[in-house]
Amino acid sequence: MRLPVTAPTLEVRHLRTQFFTPDGILPAVDDVSLRLERGQILGLVGESGSGKSVTGFSILGLLDAPGRVVGGEVLFQGRNLLTLRKRDLRQLQGNRIAMIFQDPMMTLNPVLRVEAQMVDAVLAHRQCSREEARTLARDTLGMMGIASPEQRLQAYPHQLSGGMRQRVAIAIAMLHKPDLIIADEPTTALDVTIQAQILAQVQTLARQHGTALIWISHDLSVVAGLADQIAVMYCGRIVEQGSVDAVLDRPLHPYTRGLIGSLPSNNVRGQRLRQIRGLTPNLLHLPPTCAFAARCERVGEACLQQPGISEPEPGHLLRCFYPAVAGLAGVAEGAKA
Ligand SMILES: Nc1ncnc2c1ncn2[C@@H]1O[C@H](COP(=O)(O)OP(=O)(O)OP(=O)(O)O)[C@@H](O)[C@H]1O
Ligand code: SF4
Ligand SMILES: [Mg+2]
Repeated sequence: MRLPVTAPTLEVRHLRTQFFTPDGILPAVDDVSLRLERGQILGLVGESGSGKSVTGFSILGLLDAPGRVVGGEVLFQGRNLLTLRKRDLRQLQGNRIAMIFQDPMMTLNPVLRVEAQMVDAVLAHRQCSREEARTLARDTLGMMGIASPEQRLQAYPHQLSGGMRQRVAIAIAMLHKPDLIIADEPTTALDVTIQAQILAQVQTLARQHGTALIWISHDLSVVAGLADQIAVMYCGRIVEQGSVDAVLDRPLHPYTRGLIGSLPSNNVRGQRLRQIRGLTPNLLHLPPTCAFAARCERVGEACLQQPGISEPEPGHLLRCFYPAVAGLAGVAEGAKA
């Protein structure tokens, strides 16, 4: 007997998002494809402006004008979110799908106590008593490592520290044990110890509940310790993607190698950090060449065109005509430490 094939939690196929600005069309996301199974964690990394947030907003249908998804599919458990009716999409948002923002106040209401916000969030998607909703709220705060959750329920957001506010926002996202969470740099503003605690808790919860998680970060070392897969974005495209081991131990794209090489742990103490030379091109005026060409040490004749996607080893995807040879273990060690 053949077992039924279950769809992955998320499959993004050839997603393209553009901003229709007075200065022209800005291709913020171009041909992005991702796949996440239950409980898998994907780290989406890249410099500022590379399209990480717009990818997240596009997937969840949270994009505002002048941005528009102009191509591709976003399949959530096999259903295309891009063609779903607004009502059905809203039902999924905040229930089966959640987003965590860099600023927790995007989630929290400043004039309501934590208890009211969490209880309302539970009751919006579940039929239960207020008391049951309150118990779930308290338990979820506890799961996020929040001490004295009873007291925290009574607090207003402004009475909490930044780290605590972010934990509460993450707890709200976790209330319904969603199947998919997209987290957009939620720990970037926090100190390293609190960041590490939150990452560990979110990782545990994702594994326990089978929640698929996209963790957006400009910091490769953050996702190295958290994710199963890494996707590296540059100028709206994913230029390298694969398991954490493949991308960090055997980085093939010159940009990925530049990101790894510029990690503080891979630089000599007391010296200036090694940076990738040059600047990101203006997305409104992208050259017809490989977008990284002006900054690339390996640039050659073929790079006058845009590279397509190749798969140099199973599951390790790449956009580059002249990839570096594998074996940069010494450099990658620092990223995984
Ligand atoms: N509302 C908007 N109007 C026009 N262009 C936009 C708008 N929002 C984003 N963009 C452009 O889309 C591109 C991708 O932006 P995005 O915010 O996704 O980058 P990011 O990788 O999340 O960067 P960061 O690390 O700074 O958060 C950028 O060039 C940005 O200028
Ligand atoms: S395609 Fe060419 S320019 Fe682009 S990253 Fe590869 S070697 Fe560099
Ligand atoms: Mg962003």
